[in-house]
Amino acid sequence: MEPGWDALRALGAVTAAWLLLRVAWGVGRAVYVYLLPQVRRGDPWLRSQGAWAVVTGATDGIGKAYAHELARRGLNIVLISRNLSKLEQEAKEIEQRHGRTTRVLQADFTGGLEIYEAIEAELQELDIGVLVNNVGMRYFCNRIMKLLDAEDPAKALADIVNCNVLSVAQMTRIVLPQMVARGRGVIINLSSETENGPWPFLAAYAATKAFVGSFSRAVGAEYLSQGITVQTVSPLVVSTNMTNRMKIGLLVKDPRDFAREALDTLGLSSHTSGCLSHAVQHFLLSFLLLRLFLLTQWAVKVTSMVLSLSGPKRRKED
Ligand SMILES: NC(=O)c1ccc[n+]([C@@H]2O[C@H](COP(=O)([O-])OP(=O)(O)OC[C@H]3O[C@@H](n4cnc5c(N)ncnc54)[C@H](OP(=O)(O)O)[C@@H]3O)[C@@H](O)[C@H]2O)c1
Ligand SMILES: *[C@@H]1O[C@H](CO)[C@@H](O)[C@H](O)[C@H]1NC(C)=O
Ligand SMILES: *[C@@H]1O[C@H](CO)[C@@H](O)[C@H](O)[C@H]1NC(C)=O
Ligand SMILES: *[C@@H]1O[C@H](CO)[C@@H](O)[C@H](O)[C@H]1NC(C)=O
Repeated sequence: MEPGWDALRALGAVTAAWLLLRVAWGVGRAVYVYLLPQVRRGDPWLRSQGAWAVVTGATDGIGKAYAHELARRGLNIVLISRNLSKLEQEAKEIEQRHGRTTRVLQADFTGGLEIYEAIEAELQELDIGVLVNNVGMRYFCNRIMKLLDAEDPAKALADIVNCNVLSVAQMTRIVLPQMVARGRGVIINLSSETENGPWPFLAAYAATKAFVGSFSRAVGAEYLSQGITVQTVSPLVVSTNMTNRMKIGLLVKDPRDFAREALDTLGLSSHTSGCLSHAVQHFLLSFLLLRLFLLTQWAVKVTSMVLSLSGPKRRKED
């Protein structure tokens, strides 16, 4: 045989070994992070971070599920979102069901720097152990679309950057000093699978989530030695208003199950899909290099066609 073949064979063997190692590492990590109850940090660890948890966007979907789950595990909850009546209703439910103290804070995160003064004043005297940066939006309408198809693109862009980027940075800036002073605390940032690359038709949303992922990981590295746990959670599809309450199944998670499973990974993984189902989907998506396909003009054309067929009709509220 020619010597060239030997080199090719060796290359093939190395590649195969590398792929096998990657898969084995992925499976091992998945078992460790998602399946072994023995390694979980547990509720006493969570409570030792501080008496209060702050959740942004706490009245629906994933934020609501986090608020309930954190209360169930023994923390008092500060709920922040726009609608005061929904906030009060939610707070009452948490107090009744889990017997914890709550506070509500009305704020619209599409606002700029001016909204944070009131939040900072309110949070000042609380012993905050956990911050969940959950609030996030796509465009006004719950649909994917090209940038200029939004009703008022200028406002839509300002809103989404304020809500998804500024809020996370400012909320962290507000609670981090007291956490650092106490040498403990947890910050959870809700990102999204879309952080992993450009996503046509979700351009602005995906880019804001890339910010969340990048920022969280960097700040997490900066403050790890000072006792701060930072976790980025990047789900795929969770059945909430944002995703038109898609049917729950193998791929689509119920928000309550999602929050419970994601909280179980706290302290085990600084960057997680949140649950096993989403971790497997994430692995397959990145393995198949699907993202590169999404960027092709062919894929963009097909998506445009599907969108125009499904038309501008709005879905009905349920
Ligand atoms: N659902 C998914 O499949 C999925 C996937 C990946 C990532 N995520 C991320 O997970 C997070 C939560 O998503 P979700 O699906 O749970 O959303 P959701 O069901 O639409 O809930 C949004 C929550 O945020 C509040 N809110 C919305 N806009 C606000 C604003 N401008 N100011 C203050 N509060 C506001 C809402 O309450 P009010 O209306 O009362 O203000 C509500 O409590 C987001 O960051 C999202 O990007 C979700
Ligand atoms: C707040 O939520 C309640 C209950 O969902 C709704 O009836 C009300 O119109 C909302 N208020 C505002 C200002 O959006
Ligand atoms: C669900 O999303 C739509 C579109 O963004 C929004 O108009 C509506 O107010 C949301 N419903 C609730 C209950 O938050
Ligand atoms: C996420 O967590 C880090 C950790 O402190 C924080 O500084 C940052 O503001 C949060 N938000 C984003 C967008 O990363």
